[in-house]
Amino acid sequence: MTRLIVLSVLVLLSSLRSCKGQLKVGFYNSSCPGAESIVKSAVARAFASNPAIAPQLLRLQFHDCIVDGCDGSILINLPNGQQENKAFGNQGLGGFNVIDEAKAQLESQCPGVVSCADIVALAARDSVVLTKGPFYAVETGRQDGFSSSISHASNLPGEDEPINALQNKFSAKGLSDKDLVLLSAAHTIGTTACFFMGVRLNNFEGTGRPDPSIAPAFLAKLQGICPDGGNVNVRLALDDGSQNVFDTHYLANILAGTAVLQSDAALLNNPTTRSLVEFYARSPKNFRKDFGLSMVNLGRLGVLTGSNGNIRRVCSTFN
Ligand code: HEM
Repeated sequence: MTRLIVLSVLVLLSSLRSCKGQLKVGFYNSSCPGAESIVKSAVARAFASNPAIAPQLLRLQFHDCIVDGCDGSILINLPNGQQENKAFGNQGLGGFNVIDEAKAQLESQCPGVVSCADIVALAARDSVVLTKGPFYAVETGRQDGFSSSISHASNLPGEDEPINALQNKFSAKGLSDKDLVLLSAAHTIGTTACFFMGVRLNNFEGTGRPDPSIAPAFLAKLQGICPDGGNVNVRLALDDGSQNVFDTHYLANILAGTAVLQSDAALLNNPTTRSLVEFYARSPKNFRKDFGLSMVNLGRLGVLTGSNGNIRRVCSTFN
């Protein structure tokens, strides 16, 4: 009899847990079977007319997840303009229209089922695949959050921060040095505005001089594109020579002194992160596999399930 009661309690507890909702691959398989392919088509259509959308969507997931978890808070627009996406470190973010487009189609097929936070995670993966990067299975089942605040995004990792600060900011979120290296390698695609190059090119660590780790010929090239006092909106490839293909060229650039962002070059300034850069640069197979694992780790940050969140009808506004 006692055993029967214990068993019933266990069954009840585990069913309560699954009611609350857990992340899992294929969460929408029965509730909205077309969910992943709808997102995939929306991303592919946008990519066909504008390939720059892929890096934008990949960056969008990082910026969603690193602030208050992967809760779609980055997508929200508030009447007072004080939402997360207006924070200083979120400048240059894009891809919102693709998320909105996918959401509109999902709402017409399966109203109220697929969260905006999940669309962001799926669209990032689809963007990696479209740029010839690895496919990885995306866990889904996130709920959308109820808040979005500019002040919560005031402490994003900065491009001019030293390696220990970057390590600390990642580890504060439960992301390892390995995640830091692998996720930074998302910079294998996309561009930066000259705006983010100013400190590195003109006043590295307050010296009034450029970062000495930049290879001399490359420094001249960077200064030509982003001259001191020039247009800060000019954009340049983050992975010089291979900005449209998701590959290990970015890692080779770091080792050659031809990284673009200071935070990428800084990965050489710590023995652990340095040996990870060296390892993945010579092992593209492991890079492809492990990048996917780190994206899964990123996608698990601060996830809301059950009644802690809801499914937004429109990704840019609360219901
Ligand atoms: C280590 C901390 C990081 C720093 C300091 C950093 C900084 C930056 C900066 C300054 C830009 C240029 C933004 C612009 O001008 O539009 C950028 C672009 C980008 N970041 Fe990061 N990032 C970091 C980590 C990540 C992570 C973890 C991911 C994704 C997993 C990511 C994905 C991207 C992508 C794909 C772009 C290109 C965006 C585009 O072409 O529009 N970054 N990042």
